[in-house]
Amino acid sequence: MASVTASTSDIEKAAGVLRAGGLVALPTETVYGLGADAEDPAAVARIFQVKGRPPSHPLIVHIGGAEQLDDWVQEVPAAARLLAEHFWPGPLTLVLRRGSRVPLEATGGLQTVAVRVPDHPVALALLSAFGGGVTAPSANRFGSVSPTTADHVRAELGDGVDFVLDGGPCEVGVESTIVDATGGAPSILRPGGVTREDLEAVLGCPMAVPSSSRVRVPGQHPSHYAPRARVVLVEPEKVVAEAELAQELGHQVGVFLPDGLADTAVKVHAVVALPGSLAAYARGLYGFLRELDQQGCDLIIASLPVEEGLGLAIANRLRRAAGPRPIA
Ligand code: TXA
Ligand code: MG
Repeated sequence: MASVTASTSDIEKAAGVLRAGGLVALPTETVYGLGADAEDPAAVARIFQVKGRPPSHPLIVHIGGAEQLDDWVQEVPAAARLLAEHFWPGPLTLVLRRGSRVPLEATGGLQTVAVRVPDHPVALALLSAFGGGVTAPSANRFGSVSPTTADHVRAELGDGVDFVLDGGPCEVGVESTIVDATGGAPSILRPGGVTREDLEAVLGCPMAVPSSSRVRVPGQHPSHYAPRARVVLVEPEKVVAEAELAQELGHQVGVFLPDGLADTAVKVHAVVALPGSLAAYARGLYGFLRELDQQGCDLIIASLPVEEGLGLAIANRLRRAAGPRPIA
């Protein structure tokens, strides 16, 4: 679990900011969120403004415990109840039918709402002190890399956020797994911190996963989680050769060097030697992308991990980081 650096008075102050309609950046086990009182449409509207996010993109409502779920949704199908009891607090978001308490501003006009209980002591302390639900997207500008430290949030949002709660670096490092649990067989809308295998073990049946290239719901555009540098994905065995070629052609290349090649000398601008475990890769992923941006890379060469366990979420984020971008 992440170290708790925010004090009790910080938590009280943050709860006060939420009550006054302000925005609080809060740590979760996945990434930092940009939080507002879920029941205050004006505060929710400010989130979209600060992020530069289109208002049609729905947000996640964070609550303090699974026992509060019924307060926010119309009905909880048996499979959703099972998943909530099993995985909360934790990196799982359930999409259910919207309860009347949730303003349409928070759901991008949808009649469904995404809900989760974050597994971070600072987030849980804030939710308990505040008493209500907190809508929070990742605390980054729309389309860019999600923040996994308080410094990332400060660097990216600056004065746009009224108070930053520092809870140390995020343990999971990629966002929650989003599951459509509105009825019928639950399906994965976005892979994340809870693995498909773990969900299937609890549900006792296989789950559908979206192909990463298709836009399934508002807020899941092809280009997302993107650093400034262009990201190009190649086969693992071609990473070194492609990176060196691009460097020779005049690019400032950053390379994600697959585990096992750590000792290879690569003639490029910057190298990230990937960790061996998928958990460590997920935890570091967004920091690695930010680091290569900071080092002045204009091109990042990487390959996809095997899409099992957390590899599914890492591959999803890398594909989106490499996705087509709007013309600037
Ligand atoms: O780990 C996380 O989920 C982080 C932390 C802060 O909790 N939050 C996060 O929020 O990743 P955000 O806004 O960056 O991504 C939430 C995504 C939206 O982009 C959208 O795809 C999906 O959740 N979503 C929200 N409400 C939905 C709904 N009613 N139906 C389908 N998808 C929904
Ligand atoms: Mg996000």
